[in-house]
Amino acid sequence: MCGIVGYIGTQTATDILLGGLEKLEYRGYDSAGIATILDGKIHRLRASGKLYNLREKLAHSVNPSQIGIAHTRWATHGKPEEHNAHPHVDTAARVAVVQNGIIENYLDLKEELITQGCQFESETDTEVIPHLIASYLPCAPKGDDFLKAVQTTITRLKGAFALAIICAEYSDEIIVVRNQAPLIIGLGQGEFFCASDVTAIAPHTCAVLSLENGEMARLTPLGVEVYDFELNRLRKQPRTLEWSAVNLEKQGFRHFMLKEIHEQPAVIRACLERYLSPPDSASPIQLPIDSQLYQGVQQIQIIACGTSWHAGLVGKYLLEQLAGIPTAVQYASEYRYAPSPLTPHTLTIGVTQSGETADTLAALEMEKYRRINLASPYQARTLGITNRPESTLTQMVDQIINTQAGIEIGVAATKSFTAQLMGFYFLALQLAFERQTLSLEQIQSIIAGMRALPHQIEEIIAKQSAPIEQLAHEFSQTKDFIFIGRGINFPIALEGALKLKEISYIHAEGYPAGEMKHGPIALLDEKVPVIAIAMPGIVYDKVISNAQEAKARYARLIGVTPKDNLEAEATFDDLLYVPQVEELLSPILAVIPLQLLAYYIAALQGLDVDQPRNLAKSVTVE
Ligand code: F6R
Repeated sequence: MCGIVGYIGTQTATDILLGGLEKLEYRGYDSAGIATILDGKIHRLRASGKLYNLREKLAHSVNPSQIGIAHTRWATHGKPEEHNAHPHVDTAARVAVVQNGIIENYLDLKEELITQGCQFESETDTEVIPHLIASYLPCAPKGDDFLKAVQTTITRLKGAFALAIICAEYSDEIIVVRNQAPLIIGLGQGEFFCASDVTAIAPHTCAVLSLENGEMARLTPLGVEVYDFELNRLRKQPRTLEWSAVNLEKQGFRHFMLKEIHEQPAVIRACLERYLSPPDSASPIQLPIDSQLYQGVQQIQIIACGTSWHAGLVGKYLLEQLAGIPTAVQYASEYRYAPSPLTPHTLTIGVTQSGETADTLAALEMEKYRRINLASPYQARTLGITNRPESTLTQMVDQIINTQAGIEIGVAATKSFTAQLMGFYFLALQLAFERQTLSLEQIQSIIAGMRALPHQIEEIIAKQSAPIEQLAHEFSQTKDFIFIGRGINFPIALEGALKLKEISYIHAEGYPAGEMKHGPIALLDEKVPVIAIAMPGIVYDKVISNAQEAKARYARLIGVTPKDNLEAEATFDDLLYVPQVEELLSPILAVIPLQLLAYYIAALQGLDVDQPRNLAKSVTVE
């Protein structure tokens, strides 16, 4: 949530900063702002709403400054209005700050600063920071005074934050700070960048330095110095980004979400290539995780939020049914304040596409912390499942499964979800192989089905996009939807409903099909369409019966089901076809028409599919 970016070098800063904000806008788009230094003064321009408002304002000014910081906001403290937009400055506008995170003790600090005569212009938590820094700066600062003032300020702040700071008297320095919120530094030729995410840096350089929590850095045109919070100098090795700038473009698609839906076959192919062993290998799966992580594991707990939590539910089904390991799935935001009793031989899996979700990271941290001094069976074993191997998650867990989805820009998760599912299939199969809960033949048969998935998804996209777009026209006035599924497809009902509500703003509920009659069936009438995921398998007949119960209440019935299925043809008013597939693999196909339906309903209404209101791609606040 919130994106910060900074630039120092030889080019016009505002151009670079605007480009960076564009790449970071997925992190929040309530307001945007830029601060540069020109003729020894801070120049600041801010605008509420999306980035184009700021662009418009900047179009009327010429600013050759080669140093600056910028911010795109997801409002936490204070309404999404211009006076709350970052950068924030102190009373004399000597210091400008952009922040991603939350300063928990800002009210106490604000009171103290007001008694010292500071004037506040916003309701944000961030504004205390420039005032504090300025209060520690001498009237005529020199040498390390700016760096030291920032360091003293950090000791006063409680919370999780990443900062980029400039000071009018230091026209060739940006100070950046990382404390439980992401921050990356880009190393160019005589120019340096900082940003919340590599997306803003990738168009300029592949060489990056990742700051860790508790580190700060000074960026000058001559280089980057990294320090800990006691100002001890640290040596860090740069690494090379795998991203290419081209991944960050729409490549002819109208929206990133549509592009990312279309990328799913390629992502699954990449997973298969990476994690299936060559023929005649000792094990059919080659996940790059140390077997000590899971050997002797007696239970698994999966911690995640949102769509990743839905992937966790499918993961639970697979780990229990294929590998026979009892598995619990926890909402990270709940788990952190009410963890389960400690159990021995437990593997904890954090699932997060961004690798930065504050609740997921905090829950994992807590889980590690509470096991630190316990006897060895109780010690933490942690695994991350993510498409962002460079994220904070990776630093926090013992090992990760990189789901190979690459970066996802559309706020609504699509390819990252199917890739997380693939991660769980591989993990469950590897465990099933090692624990011999499935025979090699059974595993090979599931793998054969997995190999067919990319082509089957291509078929759905090619044949179903037009009919789904057509169908979407019929729901422009619909206020409520119900999605039902059972067994391994119950999480897909939840995911279908989440996709629809987050981008089209239509109320949608996902429900286990068999639970409808215990209450929610009261909602049904001819105005409430019911989408049933009816994939052949052990619960197929049950789902069809539950759909019939909805039909008897006059609901319009839409079925996600394979072709040439007489029972389904007779039951449903509309059909979203998917190819024939084993029930075990059906979630990966069943979710595709639901992603497309949500997409077309929202796109036909002209809604901002990639940046739906009130949301952000990376939820870095609690
Ligand atoms: C929905 C969506 C969110 C995220 C959730 C967790 O489309 O994207 O529900 O799944 O915010 O995010 P990550 O996976 O980054 O931890």
